[in-house]
Amino acid sequence: MSVVETTRRGEVAIRGLSKSFALNGQRLNVLRDLRLDIRSGEILAIVGPSGCGKTTLLRILAGLEVPDTGEVLIDDTPVHGVGTERAIIFQEPRLLPWLTVLGNVAFGLDVRGDARTYAEEKARHYIRLVGLTDFENAYPRQLSGGMAQRVGIARALTVQPEILLLDEPLGALDAMTKITMQEELGRIWREEKVTMILVTHDLEEAIYLADRVLVMPKERGASIRSIDIDLNRPRDRSENRFVRQRKALLHDFGLH
Ligand SMILES: Nc1ncnc2c1ncn2[C@@H]1O[C@H](COP(=O)(O)OP(=O)(O)OP(=O)(O)O)[C@@H](O)[C@H]1O
Ligand SMILES: [Mg+2]
Repeated sequence: MSVVETTRRGEVAIRGLSKSFALNGQRLNVLRDLRLDIRSGEILAIVGPSGCGKTTLLRILAGLEVPDTGEVLIDDTPVHGVGTERAIIFQEPRLLPWLTVLGNVAFGLDVRGDARTYAEEKARHYIRLVGLTDFENAYPRQLSGGMAQRVGIARALTVQPEILLLDEPLGALDAMTKITMQEELGRIWREEKVTMILVTHDLEEAIYLADRVLVMPKERGASIRSIDIDLNRPRDRSENRFVRQRKALLHDFGLH
């Protein structure tokens, strides 16, 4: 008799999630009865207008915000607070100003109690990956915005999470670095089989990286749509099918 062991890691189930905030004495309903399943190892991109609730959703998934109703399950276990199987890359880097680049990137491993030499070796690997080896002893105030953001990316990758939550991680980068980092994220995903949930304003980035694009609506209460990106990897931005997908997505946004 053979026993088939199935290991599913990084599978996310969002069940009836609602979240509202108090604003000027009124309730602002940001998420309403959201239901969504994200497969283990999937890249889901989330696009939608400013203020529609993308960051709120990521913060709930990260365990930094508590929903009003509903729940998030990771590998069938309800999420309560933050956990080491999830890492978030924020819209802005949020580095610790008193630590160097190396200290910031190794921070998650230090907190976890990993040996210093191991933590630094691993941190250096990801610092190299984001192209900042020459700056590992620099402090955050000595970095440009794009460099600081890349430190934030390295810091999240260093803990090798099962689920990587990315909130417009490349928005502050110049066009060339952005393309390089998109390729790196694609490579990291292939190598580490991490589940990625990526909020982005860049439709090309969504099509380049994602298996599925979730379009959150402008009008509150309108339904969320999901579009499968059925293109082979590695993807080619100039390929006809890629260009057609991009046009279709722009059309969905009413942009032409
Ligand atoms: N802590 C809070 N208190 C009150 N209102 C909040 C809070 N956090 C978010 N909101 C409101 O919830 C709505 C959604 O915010 P959220 O940050 O999720 O938007 P977003 O889709 O990430 O926008 P952007 O693309 O600009 O980053 C906004 O109207 C915002 O004002
Ligand atoms: Mg946001």
